[in-house]
Amino acid sequence: MRVAVLASGRGSNLAALARAIDEGRCAATLAGVLSDRASAPALELARARGLPAIVVPPSAHADRAAWDEALARAIAQLEPGLVVLAGFMRLIGPATLAAFRDRIVNVHPSLLPAFPGMDAPRQALDAGVRITGCTVHLVDAGVDTGRILAQAAVRVSPGDDAARLHARIQAAEHALFPRVVDALARGRSMDEIARFEEGEAPRP
Ligand code: GRF
Repeated sequence: MRVAVLASGRGSNLAALARAIDEGRCAATLAGVLSDRASAPALELARARGLPAIVVPPSAHADRAAWDEALARAIAQLEPGLVVLAGFMRLIGPATLAAFRDRIVNVHPSLLPAFPGMDAPRQALDAGVRITGCTVHLVDAGVDTGRILAQAAVRVSPGDDAARLHARIQAAEHALFPRVVDALARGRSMDEIARFEEGEAPRP
């Protein structure tokens, strides 16, 4: 299954997905990487692999709706079966949601529905929880509100700051995200995937 990756930042989840594909742990094919930011390091990773690296900057469009439509068109050019958000920092608009209905997944650094939105590891520390983690979920029109597909737990350690906690959550993301993409690429239904708990790998 061809996968289009949307990323705004560092792209460590993209790198983890690429590694899993290279090592035969993920049955997907990378179709290309799209970003809202020309300087996103994730684009470099795409170029290094000879993949399309496409920038759709909001500033080049009259308004949010025009940007959303341009994004939907750019994704469609890659002919993906699945769209994954790996650190994409913008809300997906109605045109993109409609074009890829139930085929967009996101990874978020908390156990949703706790701590949606920005700075989830910071939110977890401020709330004083002992366990947090990461979630892979379907994307809908809300902020991190779509159907939960898989989660993995991460313990908060004494003395954690947001950066240290986020680094451990990201290690969990790098294991969980490629497994969910693999399951989707192998044609597992959302129902089947959602039945696996706490980051248990959906088996091929
Ligand atoms: C990840 O922690 C992800 O959960 C969140 O943004 C971060 C992206 O990190 N949505 P990276 O760019 O994949 O390193």
